[in-house]
Amino acid sequence: MSITTAVFGTLSDGRTVTKYTIENANGTTLALLDYGAYIQSICVKDKHGIRRDVTVGFDDADGFEHRTDYQGAAAGPYANRIGGGMFTIDGVTYDLEKNEKGVTTLHGCGEYNKTLWTAQILGDNSVAMRYLRPDGLHGYPGAINAVITYTLTDNDRISIKYDCVSDKKTFMNPTDHTYFNLGGYDSGDILSHSLTLYSSRYTPVDENSIPTGACAPVADTPFDFTTTKKIGDEIDADNEQLRFTGGYDHNFCIDGADGSLKKAAEAICADTGIRLTVYTTLPGIQFYAGNFLCGVPGKGSLPMEKRTGFCLETQYYPDTPNHPAFPSCLFNAGEHYTSETVYAFDTVSD
Ligand code: GLA
Repeated sequence: MSITTAVFGTLSDGRTVTKYTIENANGTTLALLDYGAYIQSICVKDKHGIRRDVTVGFDDADGFEHRTDYQGAAAGPYANRIGGGMFTIDGVTYDLEKNEKGVTTLHGCGEYNKTLWTAQILGDNSVAMRYLRPDGLHGYPGAINAVITYTLTDNDRISIKYDCVSDKKTFMNPTDHTYFNLGGYDSGDILSHSLTLYSSRYTPVDENSIPTGACAPVADTPFDFTTTKKIGDEIDADNEQLRFTGGYDHNFCIDGADGSLKKAAEAICADTGIRLTVYTTLPGIQFYAGNFLCGVPGKGSLPMEKRTGFCLETQYYPDTPNHPAFPSCLFNAGEHYTSETVYAFDTVSD
């Protein structure tokens, strides 16, 4: 195990972005940036022994600062959407900045991924990222002390642990927004990847991608990934939910979620044999099929085209603050939000 640091680039205000690369005995690497606590790359060996970078994103600081659509981002303090950009805590209504069409608040207005975090190397295989957010930024309550710890193990597991505590009662829901392409970032679309989601229910949305409040069965819909199928099999089916979101972009309710690590998803690219298994302690997982990628230049200046990466964002359900029946992510002052998500990689043969 080793951790190396290198200057990754410079932000437009002159601050330096540092890259931390953790490497294990297999030659698997996890590269992190202190800016945005981004996962910049994950390189694993495929079934032929060829190393592939399985994350779509950028190889320059300008990309992360100006061209990002949350590729590899730490999203927070509240990942995904808050309907109407508003919620109420103990009778006080908070009117947040609405960074999506002036209607909804998405990914905490990009706060966590536009912040220079303080990185700390822990031992030979972990890096902790720390950020103390100011109370009230973007209208969002709570001075939150956020710590995200990334660890790579010798069995090719990446663990992401979150520990966040606020000085004020508030909602907390951070996530990791890595876009995966298990064929390699430069291998085209992800429609032939096979996917299993261990969720028999999902949360349907309205035309603004805000949950209706229902936890609907996936059975007999294109949202049924309880039996493995290809991402592309039904992504363009004639279905109102898929029309609202332009393809999969929905929260799935993880079966049996109880706060312990549960298997939430498994994806495989047949060409490389690379398998990603996602475990989490959280109740939900956003399966987003990269529908909004639209040719912005990414790594190697290659355009990141529609559906060339997919995200499996572990989370409390979107818009939980406005849906009391959803599992709660409201934390008292001084009460710690903690969660863990694991990305485990291995290969399968034909
Ligand atoms: C999340 C959302 C998507 C989209 C992406 C970023 O996954 O659910 O609708 O906003 O982030 O483009």
